[in-house]
Amino acid sequence: MTTSTQIPNYDVKDLNLAKAGRMRIEWAEREMPVLRLIRERFERERPLAGKKMVACCHITTETANLARTLKAAGIDAVLIASNPLSTQDDVAAALVVEYGIPVFAIKGETPETYNRHVRMALDLEPDLIIDDGSDVVATMVKERPELINKIIGTTEETTTGLVRLRALEKSGRMSWPTIAVNDAQTKHFFDNRYGTGQSTLDGVIRATNILLAGRTIVVVGYGWCGKGVAMRGRGMGANVIVCEINPIRAIEAVMDGMRVMTIEDAAPLGDIFITVTGNRHVIDGHHFAKMHDGALVANSGHFDVELNLVALAEISEEKEQLRPFVEQYRLKGTGNRVMVLGEGRLINLAAAEGHPASVMDMSFANQALSCEYLVKNEGKLAPGLHLLPEEVDNEIASLKLAAMGIKIDTLTAEMIEYMNTWEAGT
Ligand code: ADE
Repeated sequence: MTTSTQIPNYDVKDLNLAKAGRMRIEWAEREMPVLRLIRERFERERPLAGKKMVACCHITTETANLARTLKAAGIDAVLIASNPLSTQDDVAAALVVEYGIPVFAIKGETPETYNRHVRMALDLEPDLIIDDGSDVVATMVKERPELINKIIGTTEETTTGLVRLRALEKSGRMSWPTIAVNDAQTKHFFDNRYGTGQSTLDGVIRATNILLAGRTIVVVGYGWCGKGVAMRGRGMGANVIVCEINPIRAIEAVMDGMRVMTIEDAAPLGDIFITVTGNRHVIDGHHFAKMHDGALVANSGHFDVELNLVALAEISEEKEQLRPFVEQYRLKGTGNRVMVLGEGRLINLAAAEGHPASVMDMSFANQALSCEYLVKNEGKLAPGLHLLPEEVDNEIASLKLAAMGIKIDTLTAEMIEYMNTWEAGT
């Protein structure tokens, strides 16, 4: 099968999984009322009609509902995986068979296949790109700069992707508008904190089936994701240690009641280590060497660079797969065993199903509305990073509250007047 641009229509594991995928996509949809409202409006208004898009996302039930929303808006979208280990193969099959959306994503695909999919998707010559980690945008800038002229705009889902895009913007090479979806309040306050908090522990538990109560969890990084993991770890009865390089966040962790120390000091104390920094080799060979026998190590940051697994392999005499998503490294000398979960890739999507639909509802409402905003404002937005207007953020929050059946107060005329005066005081 081919699309009009002659790229094959799909590369998924098994189309026979489609029915099962559809059931799960519909299950997730129940928890995504805001996105559903947007989809219903898009069906009527078709705001993206005639445009082409590459969406590089984790291929999950929630992403499938985003893809349905985009399709309802009239866009011709191709989906590719944003991580080699995060694809849900039944969802990929359902998108192709049940919803007619081209997908290139297979759980466990090699980095070569992953990169081939990125390049093939760019052959579509998209008007819009939804990126999660900025691999598509970086490839476009490096290898296909001629495509930039056609780009109306791009969006970025993650903190990590935005770190890359800020560097790109600083280098003077971002000549199109990009919406920093991650920076919307209805994204990072909820998805990064409550989504990562719950789904990371879900991944650790599904991979190992261990009890968290009474264990020491070392959370490396106290951004929104780290805060969520630490909070939920404590809620499950674990003792939580936080490692952080930013002094303000470190004080925040202390005042949130966490123990704060260096990774060096935490290494012998932790039972479970979880990295959420977005940086490289934050747990390195000399840290692994200090861990006690049986320590579990996982990453929930976007890329698989946070754990230096090459250094771990160098100080190990043997590596063995104990169960899905659990690899045991036996250290030379001490014979201590360190268990790496999910190959150091984001554990919430590798071993579990990623963030629950209810938070992705708001994240993907932001994505859908960002695409609409880019197209509505084609040619009017300055190149570089933008936030969606605050009214849109507030609208998403209001719709979510309404869907939850929660009413909140509004300002009275007297309150509005008071907030706008400078004369009234002591
Ligand atoms: N990132 C984290 N969780 C996700 C999910 N469920 N779907 C898509 N992207 C995600």
